[in-house]
Amino acid sequence: MYHTEIGKDINRAIAFLKQDELVAIPTETVYGLAGNGLSEKAIARIYEAKNRPQFNPLILHIAGVAQADRLVREMPLPCRKLMEKFSPGPITFLLPKKDAVPDLVTAGSDLVAIRIPDHPLTRLLLSQLDFPLAAPSANPSGYVSPVTASHVMEGLGGRIPYILDGGACRVGLESTIVGFSDCAVVVYRLGAISVEQIEGVAESPVAQQLTHASPLSPGQLKSHYATQKPLFRGNITALAALHPEKKLGIISFRNDYEIENAFVRVLSREGDLEHAASELFKTMREFDKSDVDVILAEIFPDVGIGKAINDRLERAAFT
Ligand code: TXA
Ligand code: MG
Repeated sequence: MYHTEIGKDINRAIAFLKQDELVAIPTETVYGLAGNGLSEKAIARIYEAKNRPQFNPLILHIAGVAQADRLVREMPLPCRKLMEKFSPGPITFLLPKKDAVPDLVTAGSDLVAIRIPDHPLTRLLLSQLDFPLAAPSANPSGYVSPVTASHVMEGLGGRIPYILDGGACRVGLESTIVGFSDCAVVVYRLGAISVEQIEGVAESPVAQQLTHASPLSPGQLKSHYATQKPLFRGNITALAALHPEKKLGIISFRNDYEIENAFVRVLSREGDLEHAASELFKTMREFDKSDVDVILAEIFPDVGIGKAINDRLERAAFT
């Protein structure tokens, strides 16, 4: 057991990381549970602290494109274009790994996931380390990702020594994950960088492979990112009628609802999907902790980051 501290002290974070200890770090997407990505000891600790199955590989976070050389064998042209345009930012690239990357990071795969995060504290941290940071989202495996330092504390308090507090995450949803087949870009997880944006930059076909029966990427599993309370999606009025005796928590994009026994959280009255995305996980957690029995969520407009919102709600709803 650790006495988990929350603070903004980069030097303290560095000291822990250099000793193969874990530090939760802020990113623009969600908080990550970081350890030295080249140290098997640190990596093993990540799986243990999260209670994560070892077949679920980790993303390596680096300061800039230059740091990728040590980790990946090659970078296809569409990857270079996407990196130039969107990194640092909420996008992760699956690339052929070099031997320096421990098999424990990639769960035995020949591909390693690389991301250049865009958060000032974490960029500063990464620029002072001579190793990449392996970091899954800083939540117990399967639960909703944390978007504040106190969310991390709720899930991992006592399991790690330090949480680097960088405030609330700007994007609030995990990064878009892309890979490259012979001539196409393949999107494996939807995120803030939309399929439309990727199509605009890659100048090659974009395919989507979002669900998988075999856990190549468990973030692709249908049931993931789940609340403890049951969550249903669809027309709110119709869903509410199906749960007459229950206390309801309603996640709405922009509408109010007058429904008895219901708490309504409007994610963006102005109808801004990016703002709604940044409120989503916080709201799911609040309802999960409250005394509502059932969470109901609207179907969001299926464009841009709205697709990622729908994806996360769909997985949270799947039982
Ligand atoms: O925004 C994010 O991506 C956050 C922040 C902390 O960077 N990280 C994150 O990590 O969401 P995690 O571990 O919760 O989700 C990463 C996903 C998992 O579904 C994992 O299976 C997949 O990426 N992944 C990682 N390495 C992979 C690999 N080599 N091949 C296929 N999938 C991989
Ligand atoms: Mg995760």
